Order: sequence, then C-alpha cells, then structure tokens
Amino acid sequence: MPLTIAPITPVFGARISGIDINRPLDEAAFAAIRAAFDEHLVLVFSDQAMTDEQQIEFSEWFGPLEGTRGVNPGSGTPFARQSNLDLKSGEVIPADDRRMFYQKANMFWHADSTFKAVPSLCSVLTARIVPPEGGATELASTRAAYASLSEKQKAEIEDLEIEHDFAYSRGLAGFTFTAEERAHMAPVRHRLVRTNRATGDKSVMIGVHAKCVVGWPEDESRALLDDLLARATRPENSYRHEWHTGDAIVWDNQATVHRATAFDTAQHQRLMQRTTISSGVPNYVAT
Ligand SMILES: [Fe+2]
Repeated sequence: MPLTIAPITPVFGARISGIDINRPLDEAAFAAIRAAFDEHLVLVFSDQAMTDEQQIEFSEWFGPLEGTRGVNPGSGTPFARQSNLDLKSGEVIPADDRRMFYQKANMFWHADSTFKAVPSLCSVLTARIVPPEGGATELASTRAAYASLSEKQKAEIEDLEIEHDFAYSRGLAGFTFTAEERAHMAPVRHRLVRTNRATGDKSVMIGVHAKCVVGWPEDESRALLDDLLARATRPENSYRHEWHTGDAIVWDNQATVHRATAFDTAQHQRLMQRTTISSGVPNYVAT
C-alpha cells in the first residue's frame, strides 16, 4: 500500500497512512515522511499503537532525542509523560497535587523545549490511554503567523532575539520551582525568525516560554509576542486533534505551537508519551 499524505487543513497538518511506523523504516520511507513533515509541519498517524521502544526507534529517525529531567515523571528517560496517573501506582493523581499543577501549564499555547539552549526540532506524542471526552490537543501554525505579516513587519522582526524562560512560563500557571530545580533552567535567547532548511519557509518560534524581546521595552515586547500568537492561533491557522488510542502525532516545534485542553482528571484516565527530538543546532546566545 503506498504512502498517502492527506492535508488536514489548507494551511498545515497532514494525515499519513499506508505505512506502519512501528516496523523498521528504510531511508526512502523516512525521506517521504520527513518531506511531508517539512511541508505540513504536523503529521497525524492513526492505529499505530506503540511501545516505548518503538516510539524511540521511530523518533530517532528525526534526530537525537532530548533527555527528560526535572519535575516530569519521565525524568531520567527520553520520555515526557503527560498523565493524571501516578507512574508507580497507576492511581489517579489528586487534582491539587503539585504534579497536576505542573501539567496545567501545558494548556498555554507553547512549543516544546524552546526554553532549552538547543531548541527542539519536533516532538512525537503518542496516545496510550485516552479519556472518553476532553483532552484534545490544539495546534497552530507560526509559519502562517509569519506569512500574515507585511514585508515591513517581516523586516522589523528579522533579527530579533527572544528570551525564553521555563520558570517564567510555569510561574504563569502558578507553579514555583525549588531553587535546586531553577538552577538547571537559566533563561536562553533564540532568534525569533526560523527558516526551514529544506523548504526555506520562515516561521516564528514563540509560545508561553517566550518571555520578552531582548532589548525592547516590556509593553512593546509583550504586544509583539501577543500579536504573533494571535496570528498563529486564528481559527484558519489552527487544528484541534481529538485523540484515539493508537494515534501518534509529530509536530514541528519551530513552526507550530500547541496546547492541551481539559478533561475530567478525577473521573477519567489519560496517558500520553512524548519524545522530543533535538534540533542539534545551538542557535542561541547564552544570557
Ligand atoms: Fe507541549
């Protein structure tokens, strides 16, 4: 069966079928997937229930995996675990537990790992346990946000640097790190405008971790970042994915943003496993 690439929206996103990504891929098969990723930014695969080992094997085609550390229960592994289930006991975590507060920040529009010195290329999120309602993931194109700017606006932002700060963004959700945790997450600077090496398409790397434009007054900085996010998340530039067990999604962390949506964490179970692929490019200036 040939690989089929069906666009999800006119702006971004594609559903990929006709390939089993749990079986060993060859160079030609991955080249087709990678080309679809560069063009569509978000790839959706269905009925591809994965083990952790299969997810690692598929993810590594895109590049080296980030290690997870810190507060996430996947710390010490390549997985960022998004779940209301305790890793060891399997029991539902109470809503007022610190771990659930930590995950609430995922409901802000963001891209994964923009707060890291080497930003991420993409993430792979797989649905292991899906609640009967709620828990969708919304995605939006920051390539479309860039494209919506006038030529003058594009020129104005071309060389800007953005400070990304994980403690800042988690703080917006009411989560406070300990001094020891904070010591591992100094703010970083990244170029705002990103260029896809394969397509030449430009996008903006934004989202909740983007604290400020370096060197700009706070109000102007916030206004620009808010405007870019508003452009990205216009309905025509967005896609809402309702998960089914066995779904796998790859999203571009430099050309899209995403956010989690609510579900009844006391009544239902949800378990998602994320691998995060590094860009390998330290395109930043340390602060
Ligand atoms: Fe995320």
